[in-house]
Amino acid sequence: MPGGVMMDNAYLQVSGLSRHFDISDPFLARLLTGGARRQLTAVDNVSFSIARGQTYALVGESGSGKSTIARMIVGLERPDSGTIRFDGRTAFDERQGQVQDNSLRQKLQMVFQSPYSSLNPRWRVGDILMEPIRAFDLIADPEARRRRVHELLDQVGLSTQDAQRYPHEFSGGQRQRISIARALASNPQFIVCDEPTSALDVSVQAQVLNLLKQLQRDLQLTYLFISHDMAVVGDGAPDRRSEEWPAGRGKRGRPPDRIPAGSLYPHADGIDAALCRRRGIGVI
Ligand SMILES: Nc1ncnc2c1ncn2[C@@H]1O[C@H](COP(=O)(O)OP(=O)(O)O)[C@@H](O)[C@H]1O
Ligand SMILES: [Mg+2]
Repeated sequence: MPGGVMMDNAYLQVSGLSRHFDISDPFLARLLTGGARRQLTAVDNVSFSIARGQTYALVGESGSGKSTIARMIVGLERPDSGTIRFDGRTAFDERQGQVQDNSLRQKLQMVFQSPYSSLNPRWRVGDILMEPIRAFDLIADPEARRRRVHELLDQVGLSTQDAQRYPHEFSGGQRQRISIARALASNPQFIVCDEPTSALDVSVQAQVLNLLKQLQRDLQLTYLFISHDMAVVGDGAPDRRSEEWPAGRGKRGRPPDRIPAGSLYPHADGIDAALCRRRGIGVI
């Protein structure tokens, strides 16, 4: 794949990112059956750049490596090769490996696909939201911490009493609001939204997308918005088009230069690659 056009003012810049998984049978089984080692290429030389305040939509069918890319960006998975730069700093490169310190981790957060498995069922919501505040040593005073938790609940449309409740007492949409509040707890600047609405009822998907839009405006967040569904990124994704299309270029104009053609993989089934290219959406 071509390296792609890189932006000078890229806030997040991913270059030549690859990740392989060893999916061989266990050693003894291979010995008995004579089977060879097998490797799965989950992410193959992916490059893209995102400007500050932008929403960059990444679309691909299930199994195309989207979550692996997301996890590598936030430091949960180690790339085999490539570079990740965030806000002018190296977050990963092949020589130095993962160089995410606490200040970088604090700025890069993620909202996971399933609000059912991503929240600790044994913790009250208040403790879930308190954890990043403690981990990053953001607020020392206990009373101020409690106020911050209440502010976070308010920001995502939940009530202060919800701090006392457990995740199972909430609906899927409300749990995803809790996940969003947890991501916000560390005052991030960049949030990877990995299919944040695909596990939710259709009726609440729009509400969660609207909340993400609102938060982006209020907190000047930058999003990597991942989906397998063109409809979500086309219409619902947080202000992506208005953010991405520079003034003077209509929707039918040339895609912005800062969307590298190299990040487009036109073979993804069921996804209209030409439409993606026009809208500046990366397809894997
Ligand atoms: N830890 C792992 N071990 C082995 N294979 C994995 C692992 N994580 C992901 N994969 C495989 O990598 C491919 C991409 O997975 P994923 O990034 O979750 O895709 P997507 O999010 O686009 O559905 C899939 O074939 C998946 O089975
Ligand atoms: Mg996924």
